[in-house]
Amino acid sequence: MYTSRRMFLGGLISSAFVSQFAFSSRAQEAPALFTKKPEDFDPNLIVFLSDTHCNPKGTSYQRQHFQAVVAEILKMNPLPSHVVIFGDFAYLNGGREDYAAASQTVKPLTDAGIKLTIGMGNHDRRKPFLEFYPDYAKTSPVPERIVSVVETQHLDLIMLDSLQHEPSGKGIVSGAIDPEQRKWLALTLKDYKKPVFVCAHHEIKELKLDKLLVNTPQVAGFIHGHHHRWRRGWTASNWSSTKTLRTLCLPSTGHWGDIGYTLFRTSPDRAVAELRQSDFYFPHPMPKEKRPAEWDIRLEENRGQTCTFLLPKVTSA
Ligand SMILES: [Fe+2]
Repeated sequence: MYTSRRMFLGGLISSAFVSQFAFSSRAQEAPALFTKKPEDFDPNLIVFLSDTHCNPKGTSYQRQHFQAVVAEILKMNPLPSHVVIFGDFAYLNGGREDYAAASQTVKPLTDAGIKLTIGMGNHDRRKPFLEFYPDYAKTSPVPERIVSVVETQHLDLIMLDSLQHEPSGKGIVSGAIDPEQRKWLALTLKDYKKPVFVCAHHEIKELKLDKLLVNTPQVAGFIHGHHHRWRRGWTASNWSSTKTLRTLCLPSTGHWGDIGYTLFRTSPDRAVAELRQSDFYFPHPMPKEKRPAEWDIRLEENRGQTCTFLLPKVTSA
């Protein structure tokens, strides 16, 4: 089982290199964007990536896993309409070289016509990120933060910015939502006309958003990264209340922990997240002879897992 899985992953990585190269060559001749038709995309399919930790070193396992996932997405038929990245897009310290590598790695997605949204994690830094993605400074509804609203047919996603760092640029692991962003969120959610998911790099309780989100009927769920684990949960407004909000923590594409990505399929009454896990390792991959047996147990236990969110009925006033 282990050998075949590793071979499968190895195959994915090799094919990623081939596919990336082939794609770049084609893209130079004619941008892929102009070769795609609307029917090539599924408007109800979104792919979630998190904690890509894009190591600028091309031979690193983080980069290879990230490239393999991008190659897998590009082979989907139909293609997802959106890819959303839940932060820690940079490797460790939000260096310019990290964003140069990460933006190059995801470029085939946007070249293919897939809409890409990136959130901030504790390993990101806004200033170097904006050098590569300046439009976020214009589109973010909260000044000095990188906040996005992803609109789809049945639901929207609000990606918050929970990054904190010291004035020197030194990272702070924990996340927070600043008062201005919190105020904007509360006002925005108050009259929201569609089911909406609130998303961030850090978890709901750490961001002190549980009371607001559980008590906002339009909010269908909270989705986050940071822990590098596929983990489903529920948050309640208080112990004895039946009012709960479903939460989901996403795996890392290749740094450590649960390794993979998530398909998010939407329909008029529900959204179903489906785990695509290729590996588990901590704190880094190990050769077969040293690999703890428990890692394969984790893979077995997660195989085929889904997380269903019921969408609230939102009546527009
Ligand atoms: Fe991370």
